[in-house]
Amino acid sequence: MHGKCGATYESGSLRRYHLGRTETIRSCTLEAQQFARAMTEQHNETGSHTKYELFLKAMQAQRQYTTDAINAKGIDRHLLGLRLIAAENNLPKPALYNHISYKRAMHYILSTSQVGAKHDCVMIYGPAVDDGYGCCYNPRNDSINYMVTTFKINNEGTNAIEFSNHFNSSLTDMRSLIEVQCWYMDDVQDNPQDDHRLKDIDVPTLCDRTGVQVWHFQPEKTFANNECPSLTKLKQDRGYTYEDEIKVQPSMEKYEEKLKMFFAEHIHSDEEIRLVLDGSGFFDVRDCDDKWMRIHVFPGDLIILPAGMYHRFIPDSKNFIHVRRFFLGEPVWTPVNRPDGDTHPSRQDYIKHLKPHN
Ligand SMILES: [Fe+2]
Repeated sequence: MHGKCGATYESGSLRRYHLGRTETIRSCTLEAQQFARAMTEQHNETGSHTKYELFLKAMQAQRQYTTDAINAKGIDRHLLGLRLIAAENNLPKPALYNHISYKRAMHYILSTSQVGAKHDCVMIYGPAVDDGYGCCYNPRNDSINYMVTTFKINNEGTNAIEFSNHFNSSLTDMRSLIEVQCWYMDDVQDNPQDDHRLKDIDVPTLCDRTGVQVWHFQPEKTFANNECPSLTKLKQDRGYTYEDEIKVQPSMEKYEEKLKMFFAEHIHSDEEIRLVLDGSGFFDVRDCDDKWMRIHVFPGDLIILPAGMYHRFIPDSKNFIHVRRFFLGEPVWTPVNRPDGDTHPSRQDYIKHLKPHN
């Protein structure tokens, strides 16, 4: 909106320390800047997956700064302490505090703070500087409330409504970045490992029109020795009792034959559940109008294909995917190809439960 980054204040609690109050989390990290630049570039040169990787790095940098700040390893209270010691002891103010870089670093264009809330409430405070913004946000279980403030006078071009609109669209952009990528396929009959992208669709449309369910976990938290609690909980909630892993790559035995088998349109009598650990690939699923939707999965994506839904799989042009497969009870591998699947009880059940569409 303003075409530049500025000093950003995010409050980190120091209440675990005697008389502690807050430390500054300087959330405008280099990693956040690189991510923002990729997301706002004019000609959209950076691909979605690179943007996603930049997003993870920015998040990691933010998390690291937050951990440092709340463990008394921030810089702002330390510098404040030194300045106050000088003042209390009638010592001259060290030159650092008059340096242009320090003044810029203390000019908080964006002052932010979160207050977690169960209730549908908003909290407000003002900007820290004339040409800045105050932004208090309240994360809730499935939404975020936020309030943006600016000064009416001497505001030097700030605009709370415009900022709020940009904030909103940024959150939407980030949501689409972490959601699995999916689209309607074209009818071109050439290499199936190409994209065949006709028209992008969002995840709610995919789920609504197929019954597919999708989740996304941080890729590094999907490996068994470091699994995140939310993945463990999902497995418990859904009763997955068996899991194994498979790598699909040219070195596997009878690779071409296996690809043909994976890519034949088929159904199963049970759900097909796949968590991508590494690599990437395409799951194609038939929607309620029998049109192909293609889901491009990457590390961290978990998808559940309902029993009785026609689908197929193929790796993308990188020819490598490593997935974990989950099962309820004993694993059932048997695919039923089209058209034999049409009369299968799981198919009848699937059609009965899929919502009708116009
Ligand atoms: Fe399958």
